[in-house]
Amino acid sequence: MLPREEYIRLSLLYNLFWLRIMKEHAIFMESMMLPPARLLSAQADRYKQQFERLLATAIRLAGGALPKDVLQSGQYYTRYTEEAERITQKHTGILINSDLTRMAYDIEPYSPHVPITAGKEQEISQFNTNILNQTIAFIRFKSEILSSQTTCNLFTLMYTAVLEHILHEGQYYIEILQRLQRRDETVAAGYKEVWLHNMAEHAAVMRGLFDPTEKKPIEIANQFAHAFESLLQTELQFINGEALADTEAFSEFKANTTRAIIECKVKSIMLPLFTDHLLREANHFIYLMQS
Ligand SMILES: [Fe+2]
Ligand SMILES: [Fe+2]
Repeated sequence: MLPREEYIRLSLLYNLFWLRIMKEHAIFMESMMLPPARLLSAQADRYKQQFERLLATAIRLAGGALPKDVLQSGQYYTRYTEEAERITQKHTGILINSDLTRMAYDIEPYSPHVPITAGKEQEISQFNTNILNQTIAFIRFKSEILSSQTTCNLFTLMYTAVLEHILHEGQYYIEILQRLQRRDETVAAGYKEVWLHNMAEHAAVMRGLFDPTEKKPIEIANQFAHAFESLLQTELQFINGEALADTEAFSEFKANTTRAIIECKVKSIMLPLFTDHLLREANHFIYLMQS
């Protein structure tokens, strides 16, 4: 049974990360739709707005609840996020509320003076239930798009593997929320396998989205894909050091790629917010391994 204080802290820790991830999945889906799918892209935009509202609430509730090192772990924003949002909005025409990013810089770190009351627990519990309902609706939307695409009734610019990937991430977030709502102590159970899979998929997707002339980054992404796939073949309890070292190296590659895209120094069909999103996911995994 999770004690009240831990329930509140973990709820905010995960929601701050995942709500931004969900909002960006909506942005990526919207950006990959072609004109005949304009109703679907409008729907994706409404999900983006819903998750932006939820993220604003999470930021407000997080004041005084999380230690400074958690807030600055690179899982909520990076040094590139704001600029990546600006460029992505410019290139896609999709409105992206960067106030939420600036608000995240200023979240007050943990303070023993912020009282943990039963009222706060109640507020968090209602918030989690609300998120759960909206995330369930969102994964239904994702799976409809996925099945339309796999049956060739819909053509988007997203790889089917990416649609599956973002669907699985949504399902995993739902699992985390359900564990939190049961006050289950093993909220993070199984995270290593989930995130190693995700890292392998990120590497394979990045490999396929650089311009074919960009031989070097394609080669590096390919090496990461193989490295994470081979880690997945190993007994997971024995690979702590290797998983951490590989993920740190991959995080650096994602950061360098994001910077290169922002500075127009690499040819690809990746939006900078997409690679920054992948970077934050790697940083979240690193955080979980170190905590
Ligand atoms: Fe994601
Ligand atoms: Fe991902």
